[in-house]
Amino acid sequence: MQIETVRQTLLALIANSDSPKDALKTPEYRGLYAAISQLDPSERAAYGKAVNDLKNELEQAIETRENTLESSDIRPIDVTAPWDVNGTSIGLLPTEFGSQHPLMTELETVIDIFTRMGFDAIESRQIDDDFHMFGSLNFPENHPARDGYDTFRTEEGFIPPAHTSTMQNRILAAGKEKLEAGGHIAAISYGRVFRNEDVDATHEHTFYQVEGVYVSDNATLGEMLGTLQSFFETYYGQKLNIKTQPAYFPFVEPGLEFAIEKPAALNGKPGEWLEMLGCGMIHPNVLAAAGIDPTKYQGFAWGGGVERLVMLKYGIEDLRHFESAKLQFLRKFA
Ligand code: DAH
Repeated sequence: MQIETVRQTLLALIANSDSPKDALKTPEYRGLYAAISQLDPSERAAYGKAVNDLKNELEQAIETRENTLESSDIRPIDVTAPWDVNGTSIGLLPTEFGSQHPLMTELETVIDIFTRMGFDAIESRQIDDDFHMFGSLNFPENHPARDGYDTFRTEEGFIPPAHTSTMQNRILAAGKEKLEAGGHIAAISYGRVFRNEDVDATHEHTFYQVEGVYVSDNATLGEMLGTLQSFFETYYGQKLNIKTQPAYFPFVEPGLEFAIEKPAALNGKPGEWLEMLGCGMIHPNVLAAAGIDPTKYQGFAWGGGVERLVMLKYGIEDLRHFESAKLQFLRKFA
């Protein structure tokens, strides 16, 4: 190849490259040296000088290009770096600190309150099956109550759980031995749940629930109400009025909705009741499904959303903020 052709090719390459030095490793450039041995000895001196001049010119062009690259913003962006790789600072200090999502912070508080009351805490699953979602919870096959849960299903028939009650059967089965040895079962389960419904200010397809289960040989509804009231009073840091009304859930009998009166400190007016969760005495069929004898043992269970708790505490008006990844919202809790 003619020296002049190589010269133009490599100068163009250098001018556009992010690593201009690579021009000196190209076959075109190496070819110039390889060609020397093919030349008539009389031509070699002039050719050698021309190649050497070109080498100097290319090195000059490389240096110019490198200086341009260094002073411009065109650099590879490392999106995983916690510092600003394109900044002028030479330190590797983060330019901004992240923070824990407010739901996680509040969930930790909830877990903390219940573990101090003697409950174990386990995370719920994010993929489950029909038995744990419905069958073990006394939902008969094809029962219309199943429709109330707007469950997603995978093509294989698995279910991203629509409530944390999916963990009840596991908690009960795991605690059976302890129960039969004269102890009791006390556990909460927390985690993400999923529902196939339209999203608005009070509905999300993805949210968090906390489930509680308590079983002994003499557990009572009164103990359940006391447990829940003391949880809410600890969480909101004040005395609260509570009330219940009957509700239907196949896995409890009786089943109740549990409400608190919105405290004045949280902009509540007297008589403004907020339904916080569902609860009740565990249905004998649910105990039996986990191998626990319902004639000897009884218990209570509850389950409710975490977002609702947090929204009331901080006066958050729209549920969608939590999953929005809006930094303006999240930074208020940092
Ligand atoms: N799993 C119910 C729901 O998501 C809430 C619930 C109601 C849980 C009653 C319970 C219970 O443990 O006893 O709608």
